[in-house]
Amino acid sequence: MRTGFSGEVAGYYARHRRGYPPEVIDAIGRTFGLGGQDVVVDLGCGTGQLSVPLAARVGTLVGVDPAPDMLTRARHAARDAGRDNTIWLLGDDRNLPALGPLVGDRRLAALTVAVAIHFMDRDLLFRRARTLLRAGGGVAVVTNGTPLWLQDTEWSPVLRGCLQRLVGRPVTAACQTDEAGRRRNRDALAAAGYRYLESSVRYAAPLTVEDMVGGVFSAMSADQLPAPARRAAFADEVRTALDGRDAVTEQVEVWLQFGLLDRAERFGADR
Ligand SMILES: C[S@@+](CC[C@H](N)C(=O)[O-])C[C@H]1O[C@@H](n2cnc3c(N)ncnc32)[C@H](O)[C@@H]1O
Repeated sequence: MRTGFSGEVAGYYARHRRGYPPEVIDAIGRTFGLGGQDVVVDLGCGTGQLSVPLAARVGTLVGVDPAPDMLTRARHAARDAGRDNTIWLLGDDRNLPALGPLVGDRRLAALTVAVAIHFMDRDLLFRRARTLLRAGGGVAVVTNGTPLWLQDTEWSPVLRGCLQRLVGRPVTAACQTDEAGRRRNRDALAAAGYRYLESSVRYAAPLTVEDMVGGVFSAMSADQLPAPARRAAFADEVRTALDGRDAVTEQVEVWLQFGLLDRAERFGADR
């Protein structure tokens, strides 16, 4: 049974996960010189948090994800934003070569992977992507900050304590949002022959307890979700542990790691 990112989890994801600020979309657009003729694939697109704003900068945005419930949310988000230049495909990283005949030789301007690279065989993916990308295009690996329960703030350990009581074990998974995870991306992009660039976008933003708790549930699999009454009790526990506060301030750091194909590159050999 597939339980990852399905059912209610997809709903929590769409409603409570932070999207990406315009600076992130700008950086991707600038790096690959994106424009109205370009086709971009957002692999592991989830509910379209990155894909939908990125679609405003390109000709066609192809969102690919193995979770049907996430894709449906992405499609609705695109419709609500009036982004008719999007198409949503059920698939995963292993299916990337199947896009070749659709986009034509070297016609892809960029492949983006946001908070999903830890699910993929990145070495194979980056090598295969080269055969689809146009000169001056490339791969963008995006990380949307450290998980809420592992941040270096006064409220994050409080949340972690509540979460550990809920699940009955220590919670340590960082989903490769840390330096070690970024190093793996950097090394794999370099090994696949891309020119490597990186940058980050930092900002402070309010985080409501509702979004904090919804964000936690969005990171669980459907079969891990507590019963609805226990979820409500968890939200109360978090609020009480935060001295009754309804919101805190989150310091968000979005990392962008780019693998670039040089503008002069002409149908370079696959590696
Ligand atoms: C944490 S979500 C990120 C969603 C979105 N990119 C964002 O930034 O909000 C991870 C997504 O990766 C998808 N995923 C999991 N395994 C995958 C794979 N092997 N290939 C492509 N996507 C995958 C999941 O279904 C999920 O939608």
